[in-house]
Amino acid sequence: MAQAVRVAVTGAAGRVANSLIVRIASGEVFGPDVPVILQLLELPVAMKTLEGILYELQDCAFPTLQDVIITDDANRAFEGCNWAILVGAAPRGPGEQRSDLIRKNGPIFVEQGRVLARRAASDVRILVVGNPCNTNCLIAWRNGRDIPAERWHAMTRLDHNRAVYALAAKANVPVTAVTCMTIWGNHSNTQYPDFTNARINGRPATEVITDRQWLETVFVPQCQERGKFIIDTTKVSSSFSAANGAIDHIKSLVRGTPSGDWTSAALVSRGEYGVPEGIVFGYPVTSRGDGCWQIVEGLKLDEFGQQKFQITLQELIKERDVVQDLLPS
Ligand code: NAD
Ligand code: LMR
Repeated sequence: MAQAVRVAVTGAAGRVANSLIVRIASGEVFGPDVPVILQLLELPVAMKTLEGILYELQDCAFPTLQDVIITDDANRAFEGCNWAILVGAAPRGPGEQRSDLIRKNGPIFVEQGRVLARRAASDVRILVVGNPCNTNCLIAWRNGRDIPAERWHAMTRLDHNRAVYALAAKANVPVTAVTCMTIWGNHSNTQYPDFTNARINGRPATEVITDRQWLETVFVPQCQERGKFIIDTTKVSSSFSAANGAIDHIKSLVRGTPSGDWTSAALVSRGEYGVPEGIVFGYPVTSRGDGCWQIVEGLKLDEFGQQKFQITLQELIKERDVVQDLLPS
């Protein structure tokens, strides 16, 4: 058997984590021959619920689940972890924007960034899910800078999957026919789901869906506001689709992205596509399955796309400025 992979999950008694943990424990992500050790972090107030989750995990008798640690101590949760999925943060409710959470959730990521840098394994990869996830990732990275910048990611995969579904439904094709989708920028209602570089059955999506009006005025806002739509419909924010986005993100890193296609993830910019260095920005990415992302270079945006790109970039710069006091120089 391979060496066990240690996966830390924060907010482990919450709704997103509930759907996430069981899929990781089952062997779905790292494979049937890779033992998994779950290191689950919660606030003291949620430890009793987390205890219940531990019992349920035991009752699944997953052959891949080697051990489960439950704790309210970040030092213990992050000790030696190879992956850290940072979900623990308040969700927004009806009428709120994700950015309204910034001052409430941001401080969580100061401490977690520091502890990760001290405790995590030398190969750790971090995926930030808690909102606003791009800027929370920025805060965690800046406080945990001993871990290389390319290991810190924020999740735009849920948006990516939403966009793929929406194009597939409009074109009346299976979701597998839609490739080369990109979510540029922020996981917020300024994100730009890029239909201009997307393909359907290998052809430009704009040749298959010729109704440009629909693409600009229905598809884009629908993707941008899908999280709000879920909250307005269910009164709570997305849960299993969010967990699925995190699972897909990690699977792409572990198994690689298919040749001729790419996916979406928010990464610490090194200036790609003119984004200022250090902004956590959603990009088109590929992976060879070695745990690393490569940003797809050379994509062109038309005037509409460039305008949307600038709007989401400016929002991220503004968010960075709002949390300046949480960012050590
Ligand atoms: P939830 O309220 O059900 O669960 C959050 C859990 O985090 C709670 O159990 C809480 O006790 C815990 N928590 C809070 N602070 C913590 C800390 N400092 N350390 C450890 N645990 C802590 O919320 P949820 O629905 O699971 O959503 C969690 C977060 O994920 C929210 O911020 C939500 O907006 C975000 N989210 C992001 C995406 C995305 O696509 N990026 C999608 C869905 C949800
Ligand atoms: C989502 O996109 O569903 C999540 O980020 C939750 C939210 O606040 O919209």
